[in-house]
Amino acid sequence: MIKLIKVKNYNEVSKKAFEIMKEVLDKKTVTLGLATGSSPIGLYERMVDSYNKNEISFKDVTTFNLDEYIGLDVNHPESYSSFMNRNLFSKVDINKNNINLPKNGSDSKLSEEYEDLLSNHQIDLQLLGIGSNGHIGFNEPGTSFDSLTHIVDLNESTIQDNARFFDNDISKVPTQARSMGLATIMKSKKILLIATSENKAQAIYDMIHGEVTIDCPASILQNHPDVTVIVDEDAAKLI
Ligand code: F6R
Repeated sequence: MIKLIKVKNYNEVSKKAFEIMKEVLDKKTVTLGLATGSSPIGLYERMVDSYNKNEISFKDVTTFNLDEYIGLDVNHPESYSSFMNRNLFSKVDINKNNINLPKNGSDSKLSEEYEDLLSNHQIDLQLLGIGSNGHIGFNEPGTSFDSLTHIVDLNESTIQDNARFFDNDISKVPTQARSMGLATIMKSKKILLIATSENKAQAIYDMIHGEVTIDCPASILQNHPDVTVIVDEDAAKLI
């Protein structure tokens, strides 16, 4: 079931998302599924602020990130590993051994290893953004609903959307990523999806009101028992 929360702007989305995140973090020993990109930055800032005020701790938190680019050095500033260190991990008391991200190598065994690792945990809260084409994680349209962690060829639209992180030069954007699959994401106890801006409006409409179809990967969330979607006015334009 999808619970929809509409708020005014990015700041309000981050604020509301933090309330939900905090309820989970208050349980202390938790496993979080985390996302990168523009959408969660404001939420991560609030998590760091709250940690600095001694309201929350990450000591007993384990994290699994959704995805990582293939072939991009982990130390590259735009690797998702660097993103997470910059925006969250280096700023809180998380135990480095409890941080998990998909590996950036092209061997398919690395996908199986990540899935094995995940199968020993249940994600209490999975944070998601959504692509303008309806992707979640990097599960592009056409991805099987049964998919587990796998290597993905990024769509042209995703490469274009992400060029802003690579000097607006599409030739610098990696063309592949390793991503949790849709079936992996669906195993999470609770899912929180956040989206802002008008270029997400169609994807948000299709996810909530469209047919459940692999053409809109996020539509699979209609089949999950506990999903909260927080959107700003622009992303909510069509609903
Ligand atoms: C990121 C991820 C992607 C993004 C999506 C939206 O880890 O899995 O699905 O959440 O592409 O990206 P932003 O937030 O940059 O618009």
